[in-house]
Amino acid sequence: MSTKVQLLSYLKENRETWVSGESLSTKMAISRSAVWKHIKALRADGYTIESSPKKGYLFQKASDLLLPEEIREGLKTRSFGQQEIAYHRETDSTNLRAKELADQGAPEGTVVISEKQTSGRGRRGRSWFSPAEKGIYASLILRPSLPPNEAPKIVLLTSVAAAEALSIRTKLPVTIKWPNDILVKGKKIAGILIDIETEMDAVNYVIVGLGLNVNIPYHSLPESIRNDATSILIETGKQTPRKDIIREYLRLCEKYYEQFNEGRFQEILERWEKYANIIGQRIRVDLAGKTHMGNVSHIDPDGVLVIIDSDGRTHRIFSGDMTVMNEMNRGGSIT
Ligand code: BTN
Repeated sequence: MSTKVQLLSYLKENRETWVSGESLSTKMAISRSAVWKHIKALRADGYTIESSPKKGYLFQKASDLLLPEEIREGLKTRSFGQQEIAYHRETDSTNLRAKELADQGAPEGTVVISEKQTSGRGRRGRSWFSPAEKGIYASLILRPSLPPNEAPKIVLLTSVAAAEALSIRTKLPVTIKWPNDILVKGKKIAGILIDIETEMDAVNYVIVGLGLNVNIPYHSLPESIRNDATSILIETGKQTPRKDIIREYLRLCEKYYEQFNEGRFQEILERWEKYANIIGQRIRVDLAGKTHMGNVSHIDPDGVLVIIDSDGRTHRIFSGDMTVMNEMNRGGSIT
């Protein structure tokens, strides 16, 4: 733990009381000017810390930023987010940063977070609107022992984690649109972008990138997505602390990933089906100029969508843009 973070924990432990510069300097074994330097750095990180020449320092309010030390406080996971959380004020795409770390051997459970993305990537070449401090832009590194054709399982389990985290923390009526668009009242509130790196016939690592619209007001959504996108703020009328949601998401990702590793994918699938509610629905899936139409039969044990067309033929669909024929939904896709 860095001295700055140690100093922060000490101030937080004593949040009701003034702590003198002298006692902080003795406690941390640093000079009083070094204490002051760290206080200034903490303020720049968004912490409200009062100072008085006579009384010292008083911790008043934690930062709203998704700083690693803020996320870890109260994070109920064994591994996810407990090791490295690579934090950026701004980056092009957290999936790209996570990929670099994974290539350098970063362990499973490593998380990359950014307050803002300048080239946030959506599925199928789309972009992801990522304004500063208004959303969650996070990428998680997983290293599952899995053949590449079973990768859709990871897509489904992480979308269940995202949907459930959102539902627990906001009580909004969350649904999943196959395979991993998270919707509220038919509008997209979150999406997951999976990047898979394979080696021979096995998955080397998977990057799970979550984009979630938290405190984005309606008027700041780009016009191109205004009709189809929403945010927690728009739906609830309230500001929501982003750290509560990311902690819940990491906890549930770890929980379902452990279940999956114990061979309990069926249970996750059942949850996914509850959120998705598409079994029996007539759908259309478009991919690379090809269209499949049919009724959804089930999701198979590999996590692949199975539909039956009007001639009674079965199709296994790995990816595409899906439209439910009798609803006004927009398409979701899988990469
Ligand atoms: C989608 O198109 O629905 C997927 C959107 C995924 C966006 C997230 S934000 C964090 C991570 N980094 C990216 O560049 N994209 C994903």
